[in-house]
Amino acid sequence: MIELAPSILSADFAHLADHVQRATEGGATLIHVDIMDGHFVPNLTIGPPVVKSLRKVTKLPLDCHLMVENADEFIPAFVEAGANWVSVHQEACVHLDRTLHHIREHGALAGVVINPATPVEMLSEVLDLVDYVLVMSVNPGFGGQKFLPNSLHKMRRLAEIRTRRGLNFRIEVDGGVALDTVAEVVRAGAEILVAGNAVFGSGDPKTNAEKLLKAAIEATLLKV
Ligand code: DX5
Ligand code: ZN
Repeated sequence: MIELAPSILSADFAHLADHVQRATEGGATLIHVDIMDGHFVPNLTIGPPVVKSLRKVTKLPLDCHLMVENADEFIPAFVEAGANWVSVHQEACVHLDRTLHHIREHGALAGVVINPATPVEMLSEVLDLVDYVLVMSVNPGFGGQKFLPNSLHKMRRLAEIRTRRGLNFRIEVDGGVALDTVAEVVRAGAEILVAGNAVFGSGDPKTNAEKLLKAAIEATLLKV
């Protein structure tokens, strides 16, 4: 099943509740929240208080993408604030196995994220521990960047490994997903589509979400 996870990074933070509501009316089934610490990535965004406020204005699961060092220190606070899905970067976690267990023990779904330069093979020992794998299709830190096509073979490879090993993780993609790239990511195996600029960049988030989902579902139907 294809799901759309709008990234609030490109939303108007002064009208966050409205923007999330409009995207939900357009078919979004998850809300993607980008947490950046200014160390692992060159940008700063939000912390648990914003997640807590968001929790009050939407029933959708909050998909918190942690682009931070020392993720273990922050996981409890994000889950307590209302995060339902928590993902951490392979590149930022020295004790990745422990961190993924930590997320699960706190009651959230656990995801692992890989940067454009990280091969899928780096995940081989944790694929049975995760609920989802997030493939970055831009270098993390900012919204509105150009989609990097080298991410496509990684989604295909993950889908193959999942079948071969009989695993259940889902495949999420993040970065540059828009009307011109959505078909190829879906054909490559992405099931959860993060989109910031394409949903909240301009125009009505409801219409934008509807168009993007429609294009994604059409691509699934044409998938061979
Ligand atoms: C980038 C973030 C993304 C970002 C995607 O570091 O992880 O979630 O918001 O934005 P777009 O869809 O604009 O590339
Ligand atoms: Zn993200």
